[in-house]
Amino acid sequence: MPHSSDALIAALRTVVDAAGVSIVDAGLVKEAADADGRVAVTLDVGEGNSRAAIGSRVRETLLALGGVDRVDIRWRDDVPGRAIAADDPMPGVKHIILVMSGKGGVGKSTTATNLTLALHRLGYRVGLLDADIYGPSIPTMLGISGRPVSTDGKHIEPLERFGVKLMSIGFLLEDPKQAVIWRGPMLTGALQQFMKDVQWGNLDFLVFDLPPGTGDVALSLSQRVRSTGAVVVTTPQNVATDDVFKSVSMAQKLEIPVLGVVENMSYFLDPAGLRHEIFGKGGGQAVADFAGAPLLGQLPIDTTVREWGDKGTPVVQAAPQSPIAQMFIAIAERLVDTIAEGAEDTGLPTIDRSGGQGRVRLPMAK
Ligand SMILES: Nc1ncnc2c1ncn2[C@@H]1O[C@H](COP(=O)(O)OP(=O)(O)OP(=O)(O)O)[C@@H](O)[C@H]1O
Ligand SMILES: [Mg+2]
Repeated sequence: MPHSSDALIAALRTVVDAAGVSIVDAGLVKEAADADGRVAVTLDVGEGNSRAAIGSRVRETLLALGGVDRVDIRWRDDVPGRAIAADDPMPGVKHIILVMSGKGGVGKSTTATNLTLALHRLGYRVGLLDADIYGPSIPTMLGISGRPVSTDGKHIEPLERFGVKLMSIGFLLEDPKQAVIWRGPMLTGALQQFMKDVQWGNLDFLVFDLPPGTGDVALSLSQRVRSTGAVVVTTPQNVATDDVFKSVSMAQKLEIPVLGVVENMSYFLDPAGLRHEIFGKGGGQAVADFAGAPLLGQLPIDTTVREWGDKGTPVVQAAPQSPIAQMFIAIAERLVDTIAEGAEDTGLPTIDRSGGQGRVRLPMAK
């Protein structure tokens, strides 16, 4: 028997907001419905609340009811958008998130893809732009190989998969295995076309999957468009973090706010549940401290991440209730929290009231 909406609301009454008021009494619960064990909840964030905090309590509470095997939260909110100049190539895109790292192979594309899908699950309109011209991985990770079409001879329609609008150089190559030998200006040209000529339409978040290195791509991007900020991906060990520190410095020089840090491949859980920190520890926190930004999450090495990625269905889509997918969803909620806090904040980066994490100041539209 599915739970009635009244029963779900009664359970949610026990969850309190930052002021200690029940989220039901505070009017934050807009909808709650159970369809065969899949509970869908629509929430307002209200004032001074964190999506990550309320989201995790709502999920915990509903899963504890029994007979509920999945909770999908949709946030109904209005995060102020980035500053959009008169010549902005994507005026309909509220937020541009650059997923970057000085280091190769740390999981940028994995993070970009799953983070995008997580934002979509949370109710946002999303797109994913593969800015890795030399080594595009989005087509493989999302299992898509179509060719974009133009309806008017001028603009390109993005492809779409799992509710995400997509563009990658991989869609334009004759042979996807063919290496791209373009240099500087052509690369910049391709990226600019991806921004200007692709019909992204109205999106809440457009996530850019950047290539490794501190190079041209971020520079040319920052000259063309004002992004909301960057999510920096690192692994815990020092060799990885050295390059990652450089990319943080570069972002800061380019006035791209660092919104947060994701530490990937942080640890491995053995079958007995013991945690092994194979690559050392502390790297993600060190980068976060250096950037003055929150550590958004620590993701374990999980074979399902690679397996699903290779099969073309990222884990957040394939197994949304799995622990690793839930971690990506929590990272997405923290990211939106950080953006919303940065927008209301006017001072220099300071210490967050709640979690002792850095706050980020963002250039926002008035
Ligand atoms: N947490 C994880 N657990 C297991 N495998 C992972 C994890 N994160 C990433 N991988 C795997 O590691 C490989 C590298 O990941 P990914 O392609 O996302 O890195 P990248 O930083 O984008 O690399 P590049 O610098 O080449 O663009 C992929 O095969 C991916 O499936
Ligand atoms: Mg990549």
